[in-house]
Amino acid sequence: MAFNAQANRGYAGLPLPFGWFAVALSDELAIGEIKTLQYFSQEFVVWRGEDGEARAVDPYCPHLGAHLGVNSSVQGNDLQCAYHHWELNGEGAVTKIPYTKVIPPVLKRNCLPVWPLFEADGVIYVWYHPRREAPMWEVARLPDCPDGDWVEVERHDWIVNIHCQEITENGQDYAHFNAVHGVQGPSEGEFALDGWGRRNKVTAQMVTPRGPMTGIIDVNAMGPGQSIVEYIDVSHVVQSQQVTPIDSEHTHIRWQMYHPPGISDGKLRVTKARIRDLVKQIHQDIPIWNNKKNKTDPILVQGDGPILAYRRAYQKFYDKAQE
Ligand SMILES: [Fe+2]
Repeated sequence: MAFNAQANRGYAGLPLPFGWFAVALSDELAIGEIKTLQYFSQEFVVWRGEDGEARAVDPYCPHLGAHLGVNSSVQGNDLQCAYHHWELNGEGAVTKIPYTKVIPPVLKRNCLPVWPLFEADGVIYVWYHPRREAPMWEVARLPDCPDGDWVEVERHDWIVNIHCQEITENGQDYAHFNAVHGVQGPSEGEFALDGWGRRNKVTAQMVTPRGPMTGIIDVNAMGPGQSIVEYIDVSHVVQSQQVTPIDSEHTHIRWQMYHPPGISDGKLRVTKARIRDLVKQIHQDIPIWNNKKNKTDPILVQGDGPILAYRRAYQKFYDKAQE
């Protein structure tokens, strides 16, 4: 008997938060390259001009509606539509029509909706807002490196079947650390909200081959789409995590993992083991995320962690005018 496990999980149709979201890694978009991306329950087109800048626009040509991600090309810094070779710039204005001398003024203005785009630390972010309000904060950057520049050592990504709000709730769910990951939950936690950001600094007792030790997990989240986590224990790992809604039931998670420069081979082995452990942990979370139901009014008990505080804080990322 066919059974659609997705049908009753309670995520379909939930609103999407606004914010800066990763839509590609910088080296996935070469100069002159064009990509159609699907996030936020819609499509948009990104390209990189000769000047190295990435740009993002809505997918349909304002002329006669051709898809700008199909058979189009990059000319200089602009995007040339395949249908009539009109050229559009990153401000959504027509810059060239090859068979016409006079471009109507209405086409010289922004006639194609544009996605605010910012590229930082090897990631291309776009600003999503359901009513296309302008960006309200800046993309968060990696923390200062103690000595030189962070070295990217690994990157990972996953697509999970759940609303993006639940991915970042995981860090506040202290009681699952033991049940799911076999580690002790945070013995002390600091949960602080600051504007559009959230800091969650926890001290965890960890079991290592050399005996128990205290590890620090310092989460700096900015908006709903970015969490930068420093793990400071026997190794020092920076995890830049981005969660991006594909739609209200599917989320793309990306990790870029860094360590300080100039570490010894021994330290590198410990660092890689630490990262392997983090990857193992998300692989323990994913089956739960892929199958769980949305519980909007859970009965929580002492020891559950600041789940409700997190949820209340998250509400500010939903557009009130849309609801
Ligand atoms: Fe987890």
